[in-house]
Amino acid sequence: MILENDHDSIRAIRWEDNRLCLLDQRRLPFEEHNLYPDDAAAVATAIRDMVVRGAPAIGITAAYGVVLAARQRQAQSPGDWRGRLDEDIGVLAAARPTAVNLRWALERMQARLAAAGADAVESLLEAARCIHAEDIDANHRIGDHGAGLIRAGDAVLTHCNTGSLATGGYGTALGVIRSAWKSGKLTGVYAGETRPWLQGARLTAWELARDRIPATLITDSAAAYLMHQRRVQWVIVGADRVTANGDVINKIGTYNLAINCRHHGIGFMVAAPCSTLDFSLASGQAVEIEERGADEVLSLGGVRIAAPGATAWNPAFDITPAELVDFLVSERGVIGAPDEVKLAAWAPGA
Ligand code: MRU
Repeated sequence: MILENDHDSIRAIRWEDNRLCLLDQRRLPFEEHNLYPDDAAAVATAIRDMVVRGAPAIGITAAYGVVLAARQRQAQSPGDWRGRLDEDIGVLAAARPTAVNLRWALERMQARLAAAGADAVESLLEAARCIHAEDIDANHRIGDHGAGLIRAGDAVLTHCNTGSLATGGYGTALGVIRSAWKSGKLTGVYAGETRPWLQGARLTAWELARDRIPATLITDSAAAYLMHQRRVQWVIVGADRVTANGDVINKIGTYNLAINCRHHGIGFMVAAPCSTLDFSLASGQAVEIEERGADEVLSLGGVRIAAPGATAWNPAFDITPAELVDFLVSERGVIGAPDEVKLAAWAPGA
């Protein structure tokens, strides 16, 4: 739901007229163009190619992808379509490796299918809509919990895009910033440009401008000096996965920011829904870090910027050890200095 005066007007994933509509984030900020993938392969391609990105958003999109796949399989072979859906779920699960929300959403869809009767496709759609709505609700709670930590007059730096574009709506780290902005506490919002995909420059700057929250863009390499100048009191980021010990896997550059925060005595807050927690892995070292093509570093907007002959290494995420995290915020509340024991309170069923 989009609320008046919530500084939250964008919905990048929509189920409309019985089809999935994705705002193509590769074309932002200059073009608002929608895509309508209509089967599991097309949804997986949209996730892999960054039409839709951000951990919660790719989980939600994959859930709708299961609905599209089920509808197609049922039309093709009404008698025995359910078993064939596993292949589609495998295609969706393989789209990107790092964000656990993808696996989490697909497991929920599989559980719903197992329990569904003759109206299985309708039931899957209901489950996908539910995952979507729950994410928006969780983000509002995260926003309130996180904003509670911020003092009047504080300014923040954020990284990547963790807003309505990266989630069902409202956002995680950007949800905290939205809530703090609404309450009048924040004096400034800085956004790192987030090389190489420029999620900060292209997406966060666009989203915040659209929602009337003034933001100042910095190059990623200006962050330490920004902190040295005491221009921010917080760095607030999202996560693609948080392991059982509180290690945080997030957009490349997050680790730099956490180290710089500790050095300068700046608060480092991670905002993520419980769908991003992975209790099956003991530490961040066990997480597969996506490596993307060298061309993303060597070129900008399709134009080569690196010297002829240069090569590049392009990890999309990094691992921030739990000891550098001051606060972990989820829809369930706030954990200060997270570790395995404290985090266990948020385990499923705890
Ligand atoms: O490669 P991306 O753009 O999918 O990376 C996104 C991030 O790293 C976000 O910080 C994370 O998914 C949290 S989004 C609420």
